[in-house]
Amino acid sequence: MPSFTVFKGSKDGSIQQSETKKNDLTGDQVLLKVTASGLCGTDMHYRTADMVLGHEGVGIVESLGPDAKYLKKGDRVGWGYEHDSCGHCEQCLKGSETYCSERAMYGMADLDQGSFAKGAVWREAFLFKIPDSLPDEAAAPLQCGGATVFNALHTYNTDPVETVGIMGVGGLGHLAIQFASKMGCRVVVLSGSDKKKDEAMKLGAHEFVATKGAKEIKVSQPLNRLLVTTSAMPQWDLVMPILAPGATIHPLSVDEGNFSIPNMPLILNGITVQGSVVASRYVHRRMLDFAARHNIQPIVEKFPMTQKGIEEGMAKLDKGEMRYRGVFVIE
Ligand SMILES: NC(=O)c1ccc[n+]([C@@H]2O[C@H](COP(=O)([O-])OP(=O)(O)OC[C@H]3O[C@@H](n4cnc5c(N)ncnc54)[C@H](OP(=O)(O)O)[C@@H]3O)[C@@H](O)[C@H]2O)c1
Ligand SMILES: [Zn+2]
Ligand SMILES: [Zn+2]
Repeated sequence: MPSFTVFKGSKDGSIQQSETKKNDLTGDQVLLKVTASGLCGTDMHYRTADMVLGHEGVGIVESLGPDAKYLKKGDRVGWGYEHDSCGHCEQCLKGSETYCSERAMYGMADLDQGSFAKGAVWREAFLFKIPDSLPDEAAAPLQCGGATVFNALHTYNTDPVETVGIMGVGGLGHLAIQFASKMGCRVVVLSGSDKKKDEAMKLGAHEFVATKGAKEIKVSQPLNRLLVTTSAMPQWDLVMPILAPGATIHPLSVDEGNFSIPNMPLILNGITVQGSVVASRYVHRRMLDFAARHNIQPIVEKFPMTQKGIEEGMAKLDKGEMRYRGVFVIE
C-alpha cells in the first residue's frame, strides 16, 4: 500500500504536512515520485480548504497498475487540473473532457492528494510524458498555467495575423506572451505598472501598456483577442474601446462574483466572451510539443517542497512579488 507526504491547506491558511495512504494500484493507476510542482494563482483560493494543494505536477513513474499500457517505470510525466472523466459522454467523446459532468478536478475530487507532495497516484490516461528538452521545474508550470493559456489561443483558432492582448504578467500571462508571440501574433501586454516591461518585451511582446490609474487605455492597434490573466477581473469599461470589432475576450481569472460587462459596446462590435478551463488532454499534449519545439519555458523561482518552502512561496505570490512562477522542488 503506497503512502507519501502531502501538504494541505487549513482553516487559518497555514500549510499542514500530512501522510496520504493509498490502496494497492488497480486499473491504470500509476504511482509517481513527485519532483516539482508549480504554484498557480488558483492554489491561493484553496489555501484555507482542508485538502492537498497543487495541480502543476511533474514526477517519475515508480510503479504501475495492471491495466497501465503506455508508461513504464522511470518515465517522466506531468499532470494538471483534471484527473479523470467518464470517457463515454458527448463531451468526452469529442475530446472536451474538461466539460464532462463526471470530471474529477482539483478542488472538487481527490482531495487527499495533489502536487504539493512527495508522491501521488493518478490514472495513466491523465498523465503526460514530458519532452526531454523541458527540465522538471520548467515543465511543472505548463501543466496548468501553460495549458490554460495555450488552450485559449489554440482551441479558439488564433490566427497569426491577429493582435493579441495579454492582460496580467503573472504565471499565466508570462507564458501567454510567449505562446502568442511564437504563434506569430502581434502581442500587446497590459500590466498594472511599468515594472515588468523589459521582461515582457524579451518574452516576445511587441507593445507594453501600464494600466494602473489610467482613465483611458491606448494601444497602437485594436486587439482581435484579449486573454485576461489577472488575479481579479479588470475594469471592462476601459477594455472595450481597445477591442477590434469581432474580437474575442477570454476571461481566465478565477473570480466568484458575477461577470458584468458594458452591453452596448459588446453588441455594437460583435464581441465574443469565451470562458474556458485548463485544456483537454489532446490540447495539453499539443501544448507540450509546441513549448518544446519553440523553447517556451516559464521564468521560475524555486522553493523547497517543505511546509516552510510552500508558505514562503505563497507569501511571495500573495505580495505580487513572484517572477513569474513559483516552483516547489524536492531537495
Ligand atoms: N481558467 C482557468 O482554467 C485558469 C487556470 C489557471 C489559473 N486561472 C486563474 O488565472 C488567474 C491568474 O493566475 P496566475 O497563476 O497567473 O496568477 P499570478 O501569477 O498571481 O498572476 C496574476 C497577475 O495579475 C495581476 N494582478 C495581481 N493582483 C491584481 C489585482 N488585485 N487586480 C488586478 N490584477 C492583479 C498581476 O499582473 P500585472 O503586474 O502584470 O498587473 C499578476 O502578476 C488567477 O485568477 C487564477 O485563479 C484560471
Ligand atoms: Zn492552476
Ligand atoms: Zn464524460
